[in-house]
Amino acid sequence: MDVKTALDQMFQDLKDPSGEYGLKEKVMQEEYLIHGELKTWRGEFLEVRSPICEKTGDHFERKVIGAFPQLSQKESLEILDSSLAAYQNGCGVWPMMTVQERIDCMETFLLEMLEVKKFVVKMIMWEIGKSLADANNEFDRTVAYIRDTIEALKDLDRQSSRFIKEGGIIAQVRRAPFGVVLCMGPFNYPLNETFATLIPALIMGNVVIFKPPKLGVLLYQPLLKAFQKAFPPGVVNVVYGRGVNVVGPLLETGKIDSLAFIGTSKVADTLKHQHPKPHRLRCVLGLDAKNPAIVMEDADMELAVQEVLLGALSFNGQRCTALKIIFVQQNIAAEFNRRLTASIGLLKIGLPWEEDVRITPLPENNKIEDLQRLVADAQAHGAQVINDFGGEAKETFFYPAVLYPVNEKMKVYHAEQFGPVIPIVPFADMETPLRYIVESNYGQQVSIFSQNPQLIATLVDQLVNQVCRVNINSQCQRGPDIFPFNGRKDSAEGTLSVTDALRAFTIRTLVAAKENEPNKEIIRKILKDDLSNFISTDIIL
Ligand code: G3H
Repeated sequence: MDVKTALDQMFQDLKDPSGEYGLKEKVMQEEYLIHGELKTWRGEFLEVRSPICEKTGDHFERKVIGAFPQLSQKESLEILDSSLAAYQNGCGVWPMMTVQERIDCMETFLLEMLEVKKFVVKMIMWEIGKSLADANNEFDRTVAYIRDTIEALKDLDRQSSRFIKEGGIIAQVRRAPFGVVLCMGPFNYPLNETFATLIPALIMGNVVIFKPPKLGVLLYQPLLKAFQKAFPPGVVNVVYGRGVNVVGPLLETGKIDSLAFIGTSKVADTLKHQHPKPHRLRCVLGLDAKNPAIVMEDADMELAVQEVLLGALSFNGQRCTALKIIFVQQNIAAEFNRRLTASIGLLKIGLPWEEDVRITPLPENNKIEDLQRLVADAQAHGAQVINDFGGEAKETFFYPAVLYPVNEKMKVYHAEQFGPVIPIVPFADMETPLRYIVESNYGQQVSIFSQNPQLIATLVDQLVNQVCRVNINSQCQRGPDIFPFNGRKDSAEGTLSVTDALRAFTIRTLVAAKENEPNKEIIRKILKDDLSNFISTDIIL
């Protein structure tokens, strides 16, 4: 089907897909999880509208697919009380469990989670418009992340199951939890990036309050039951509702020990400032980014085009790691643009469950208008949309727009578009992209495309001191999850990866004694009679 026909037919005769990914009825999230109880909510609800539109009379409307509770400050503070009771100043059932016991609970949760994969994947498609392939990938990647986290914890525990003798002191060092962790993930990875912080925080002995992202809420319905079944009461609680009603009050108590937030730096700043004890609150933040690609004249052009395509348009450009500005050496720009726009023309557009679909509707309210304004501003300052159908919209669908030539007067040069708009900046000398990176408020990643080892080496040595990952002839990305994921400036605080996340939600704590015979005898007795979880040389195999 050509692009024009596909655009014309978008949302026409929307029939729910038959079979396993159909949505026969609305998903009504009527309960929230507090202290091991799925409590029925009798107050106000917020309707969930899918980015998938349906025809109503002579116009299209976003399909209503369910609703979830709008808790108030009162419930939010009750949830905090439950979490504090579960943590019990570090003496609760969960923080006092052995590592093996916590792993057992996590494995129970994983089994329950695997049972509900189809529902979760279906809701990722309906709630945020992610393609079936990407939604499956998000689920599978999360499962792999949980398994890898369990293995990393066993490894960490093995390393900690020994004593250190130094300068007449005998000590054992382990990582201890902070207390109550508030986890908030983003809409673009509603499952994966919420669990990327929730799972390590939890398994290390913290208790967790989590708030599902603004979009991607209903998918948690069966997972609440899984949390309820797998963990002691209060160890995982969930808040639903507007941040101002449920998150602000939590932070203002000063009783949240750690904030894990993935979203915008603006919201992160607000949240941090709501906490009255800035030194108590440990933050792990994944924030804005405007990752550039730099395409040099000697680049393998076809490879560069395909990587830029992936980098800029995977999940419609709605990734913090997306390539959001493309610097192309002037003398190859015409050929690069020709090949890039031709490749975009081949991408299948449509609804998430359509086979091989690459570009899908966008879930955020007013997103189409925001992108249109960005394109119009670039045009007003001299750029053109250089691909066929670029920027054409239908309801919640926006066809990718390639803008050329882009310069610093345009908003799209600076702003994170978080959508299918590709700004291309021609450059004559390396100073242009390098200055851009130095002056940028962001510092997450960069992609460089060249076949010249000397040039690549020189750029790498400069760029590693500006961003946190330099990708050679490859798009920017977070994974594999074993690699550190972080950023400089407004792009992040703290580092995530399977192993780093275990460290991020804990603090190294030690038990130490002067190395004399009475002390050694006490330690021997504790070890022999298995009197402590902390002072222990037991090894998890
Ligand atoms: O949205 C930000 C994500 O961390 C990007 O992850 O590179 O695996 O798509 P990804």
